[in-house]
Amino acid sequence: MTPTRSTTHSPEARASAVRQCMVNGFPRRQCEAFMRDGFDLRPNQKHACEHINPHILEGSLIVITGVEGNGKTALACSYAYAWYLRGYSLPRGKALYFTMTQLLNAQKAWYGAGSKGDSPLDKALECGLLVLDELIASHESPHDRNLIRDLLNRRYADKRTTILLSNLGDEGLKKALDRPILDRISDGGALIELQGKSLRGVA
Ligand SMILES: Nc1ncnc2c1ncn2[C@@H]1O[C@H](COP(=O)(O)OP(=O)(O)OP(=O)(O)O)[C@@H](O)[C@H]1O
Ligand SMILES: [Mg+2]
Repeated sequence: MTPTRSTTHSPEARASAVRQCMVNGFPRRQCEAFMRDGFDLRPNQKHACEHINPHILEGSLIVITGVEGNGKTALACSYAYAWYLRGYSLPRGKALYFTMTQLLNAQKAWYGAGSKGDSPLDKALECGLLVLDELIASHESPHDRNLIRDLLNRRYADKRTTILLSNLGDEGLKKALDRPILDRISDGGALIELQGKSLRGVA
């Protein structure tokens, strides 16, 4: 799957895809950008897509790293947009977005509220495409670390695609992700460094 601009879908279909992204947690700032005339991925993002596209429908674990502000979140959102635009949510499940902190906090709030219905973690486990943004190097507790490890393991085992975004360097990544998870990236997944400087203030 490629997230490049669609020329074949109607404005209504594109607006609907953007709405579905927003309802499922993708940041409004990025989603609204897709609605603007002339929006396109930058050359650095398109280059990264060449490495990401073969994995996106394969249930892979994809890690995208890069310096702050160089377009990682926007790139991941463009995959969610393409996911909804092309109707992949019907056979495969929704595309969902969480920052790691947001997911852990939402899970704690769910425990605190009596654990009714599907937990945020259940939703993150079962969706077709999970974008987990802003990986943190040191988890607050071993419990949090285990939750994330279990989530990534189970999604990998079930062949559900996960995109992890991080501006941690190699050492930070090793702290954030356990060795077995890093092994899974090398087994059919992808570790991609998005090139380029921050787009903030220039985009
Ligand atoms: N293709 C694009 N065209 C125009 N603006 C873009 C594009 N990609 C990203 N931007 C803008 O550049 C800014 C930074 O992008 P984004 O938030 O995706 O970076 P990031 O790598 O996720 O940053 P961080 O590491 O801080 O999370 C945002 O304002 C975003 O809307
Ligand atoms: Mg980001």
